[in-house]
Amino acid sequence: MCGIVGAIGSLDFRSYLLNGLHKLEYRGYDSCGVYISNGKNHGLYKSIGTVDSLESKVPLNLSFNPHVGIAHTRWATHGGVTLSNCHPVYSSDHRIMLVHNGVIENFESIRNFLIEKGISFSGNTDSEVIANLLSFILSIDNSMTKAIERMMQELNGSYALAIIDTYDTNKLYFAKNLSPLLIGKGEGANYLASDQIPMADITHEFIDLKDGQYGYMSKDDIHLFQNGEEISFEFVSRSSENLDVSLNGYEHYMLKEIEETPSCIERLIKNYIFRKKYTFDKKLLRVIERSTEIIFLACGTSYHASLVAVDILRARGKIANAYIASEFAYHPVIMTDNPLFIIISQSGETADIIKCLPFITDNAYHLLTITNNRYSSLARKAEYYLNLYSGVEVSVASTKVYQSELVLLLMLFDAIYMDLNLIESLNKELLVLKDIINRKEEIKPIAKELANYEHCFILGRGLDYDSALEAALKIKEVTYIHASAVQAGELKHGPIALVSQDFPSLAFISEEKTAHQMRNGFQEVKARGGKVFVISSKSLAEENDSFVVLDSTIYLAPMAKVMVAQYLTYFITLEKGFNVDKPRNLAKSVTVE
Ligand code: G6P
Repeated sequence: MCGIVGAIGSLDFRSYLLNGLHKLEYRGYDSCGVYISNGKNHGLYKSIGTVDSLESKVPLNLSFNPHVGIAHTRWATHGGVTLSNCHPVYSSDHRIMLVHNGVIENFESIRNFLIEKGISFSGNTDSEVIANLLSFILSIDNSMTKAIERMMQELNGSYALAIIDTYDTNKLYFAKNLSPLLIGKGEGANYLASDQIPMADITHEFIDLKDGQYGYMSKDDIHLFQNGEEISFEFVSRSSENLDVSLNGYEHYMLKEIEETPSCIERLIKNYIFRKKYTFDKKLLRVIERSTEIIFLACGTSYHASLVAVDILRARGKIANAYIASEFAYHPVIMTDNPLFIIISQSGETADIIKCLPFITDNAYHLLTITNNRYSSLARKAEYYLNLYSGVEVSVASTKVYQSELVLLLMLFDAIYMDLNLIESLNKELLVLKDIINRKEEIKPIAKELANYEHCFILGRGLDYDSALEAALKIKEVTYIHASAVQAGELKHGPIALVSQDFPSLAFISEEKTAHQMRNGFQEVKARGGKVFVISSKSLAEENDSFVVLDSTIYLAPMAKVMVAQYLTYFITLEKGFNVDKPRNLAKSVTVE
């Protein structure tokens, strides 16, 4: 949620800061801003909306040569989307200029305290409270590092901060707690950002700040502190492999990422299978076997991928449950005494999942973490870790990573039960997916029709219901059509009351044993004027089905059905003229609770 970029030294600030913001925009895109300075002159540029709108405000030829700069792209938490709430924010005396990711839980009491001291605020953010608090502490003791330490003692909550003291712009200060912040070592300049992507082309040497750390950098030096003491550090090397965020000729990231699915699956095969055998850590496999229960924790799309794994495990007699992380954090449920937790997260930064960690570690439960970013907060705290190797997913709605999560989970359990025949089936599934990609134009007319409705049901049974949940989420979040997944057999127990000629259904059919019942249910819908768009597997297809996919091995069937739903979402959104990659009100990585 929100993105930070900053640097000090000799560089092209306009290009680094704006390109960095572009690359981080998927983390939030309500508003954005840049502050640059050379001590004497400075520039503060802010814009509501995307980085494109900010770009036009920052002069191409700056009238001065900056040597320090910070920038931010925002996803509003405290305070509306206004220019005064947009970052960089500054203290009322204009001494402190900062950008902030995270949420300060006790900001209201600090704000009231500062107001009592006569300090005024121009906006409503918790971030402006930090700026004023820091400036207030500096008015008592003029040492920046001491003031930052003192400030951190006062703040409850999460923060990644890049701070400029406008009285001395030869240093760029930073502080971190529970929100990611990375320092990058450059030549004649040093950099920081809330993730590696903005710095990927510049440096491979990083300091991965830990909670409670703070410090400052100049163009040649970096100083790190913790609990009032300067501490030593080592740079860690990070490769920039799979960090490509270019569109590669595609019009939108969502389309590009849907079509990257086959290569993501091939990468998983390459990384986890060698000479037709799985290469998973044997210790991890033993833990899975010995655990009395598998508990999946995830949110959104990742949660839907875990539902398929639950079905597979339960069918093999293993107790398995998937929980929405934000619920589990406050209502934990353990059914047996030796569970294994499996956390699934595309970003590895989701706050609702991080909130569950103390429960797992305090009880010394085993934990496997699966993310698409091996440097993410969740990956770094993992006991066992598996990388999804999907490459950066930029579009806010997850597509290729859902598919990778599904396949990796299936591979993992196939490594234990050895009865999914996945190694052979995956190659066949690649053909199923490539066939959908080749015939995507056939999905457009269905999308065109669906775009006319405000509501729809997505019907499925068994694994098709898992796919229906994911399809409904995709359709809701990007097309703004109200889509609701229903287990088809339940339709007649209530939801059918909503069916009318204005309320169609999309239905998935992959399973022979329920196909007949599914189609009977369609008659009931049609009898009430509701249209049904059927997406079926070839061997179960009937005339007039809307789109037919090649047959998949049953556990892989969700891949094809969800891919069709992803294309539908994409085409409906284009039809309605909405932003495909940046749907309203959402952020790719939700780092606040
Ligand atoms: C946000 C995104 C969803 C995503 C969910 C979980 O809500 O908008 O697309 O599925 O977070 O994210 P994660 O990174 O933990 O998989």
